[in-house]
Amino acid sequence: MIVTISGVGGVGKTTVTKLLVKKLKWRLVRPDDIAKKKKLYAGFDKERKSWIVNLEKLGKELRKIEKKEKNVLVESLYAHFFEADIVIVLRCRPEVLEKRLKKKYDWPTKIVENKEAEMIGVITQEAVERHGRSKVYELDTTRATPMQTVGQMMEIIKGGGKKYKAGRIDWLK
Ligand SMILES: Nc1ncnc2c1ncn2[C@@H]1O[C@H](COP(=O)(O)OP(=O)(O)OP(=O)(O)O)[C@@H](O)[C@H]1O
Ligand SMILES: [Mg+2]
Repeated sequence: MIVTISGVGGVGKTTVTKLLVKKLKWRLVRPDDIAKKKKLYAGFDKERKSWIVNLEKLGKELRKIEKKEKNVLVESLYAHFFEADIVIVLRCRPEVLEKRLKKKYDWPTKIVENKEAEMIGVITQEAVERHGRSKVYELDTTRATPMQTVGQMMEIIKGGGKKYKAGRIDWLK
């Protein structure tokens, strides 16, 4: 089974997946690390000075890992683009996200871009476009502790996550 965890920058992906792998004892994959190790790039973005990963090749690597390890947790800003059994998108009210981002990054465009992306729910939209609504879940981390979010993820993975199905969170309302 492949479970992906995504969400905009600063929403809490790394914090919760670290806790979740400890509980599940699953293999945790960060696609950026595999791309770096295996040089799975599609090009270079000069403006952002960063490599563009090859999603197709990375997807194949994930399948290989799944065959070996059975269960894989994939954590990334773009994890929702991969084939998966469960797609979890972390969400956070934009004003609170901004505070989390300011603690993490001293880079105004990064803060604004992520806050705006969260405001309109870009990641959920992309995830639903890619997978359909049935596989996509959203967790609101705004007032939750990381452990509470992990508990909700466990519920979803065990098959009882109906109440977290994508489509309930709209920060523009
Ligand atoms: N319910 C929650 N789940 C996860 N993180 C939370 C939660 N509540 C507060 N936080 C805090 O939000 C911050 C999230 O930072 P983290 O590095 O995990 O985000 P990220 O999504 O991995 O960001 P990036 O995309 O920049 O790597 C941490 O300081 C964490 O303690
Ligand atoms: Mg992170």
